[in-house]
Amino acid sequence: MAKKKTILDLQQMKANGEQAAWMVIYDSCLASFAEEVGMDMILVGDSMGMIIYGYDGTVPVTMDMSIAHCQGVRRGAPNTYLIGDMPFGSYHASCEDAVNNAVRFIKEGGVDAIKLEGGVAIADKIRAIANAGIVVFGHIGLTPQSSAAMGGFKVQGKNTATAKAVIDDAVAVYKAGARTLLLEGVPEETASFIHKILPIPVYGIGAGADCDGQVILAADALGMYKNFTPKFAKKYCNLGEVATQGMRDYISEVKAGTFPAPEHKYKFTGDKDEFAAFLAEYEKNLDL
Ligand code: KIV
Repeated sequence: MAKKKTILDLQQMKANGEQAAWMVIYDSCLASFAEEVGMDMILVGDSMGMIIYGYDGTVPVTMDMSIAHCQGVRRGAPNTYLIGDMPFGSYHASCEDAVNNAVRFIKEGGVDAIKLEGGVAIADKIRAIANAGIVVFGHIGLTPQSSAAMGGFKVQGKNTATAKAVIDDAVAVYKAGARTLLLEGVPEETASFIHKILPIPVYGIGAGADCDGQVILAADALGMYKNFTPKFAKKYCNLGEVATQGMRDYISEVKAGTFPAPEHKYKFTGDKDEFAAFLAEYEKNLDL
């Protein structure tokens, strides 16, 4: 079994030019597969709001929901670097809230780091969490928790003025003490500049290839979510198709009486004559 990574390994991978591959996963079952195949990291993303809970966005996700999913993922992948995603409202009001909730992720969720969305505007919260000794992953660009303020899920930094805002955010997040940065929904030109100027690992999701690694939602990569697939996501397989076919086959077999078959049944190992006599007697005295 590979040694569990630390933030120093992530920094070393960047120095070696080795790309990090991480995935957004919310449950123990998929997490165990990810660990088996050597996924570098798992993010327990607040996208669970849409994928697991069926909301329109990430905003309704709570600390308790996030912590419970982190615990499940940790049980499934005890040896994989795990990042907890701080939900909307868990770090916005004060630095005290931010630190207390980040501490909950570490102590209760069993994660190795936390991620939070925002740049200049939340730099004080990043600094406070980092000062508490917690590894912070920054997340800027298209930040789903603020999609209402952005007027929807919109790519950021597509022209010089908006690219400047994204770059300012990146610099603020780094200076506040984040140990890595995730860029979401940013043109490759903008992402590439941020990757060039920052000494910490810079990862991308919809930010092009000039990064230190990529993250993708398992739901997108494995074809499990049919409501919406972003342009940047690649479907590596279609679990939705496999699952619906499996369900159709199951329904047909149950209705046809071909499931369960002999190999799915338990055997009675007691004395059959004794059992038959017992059943006959039981039925005779039955009063329903
Ligand atoms: O919650 C999530 O899935 C995320 C990814 C978009 C990185 O934050």
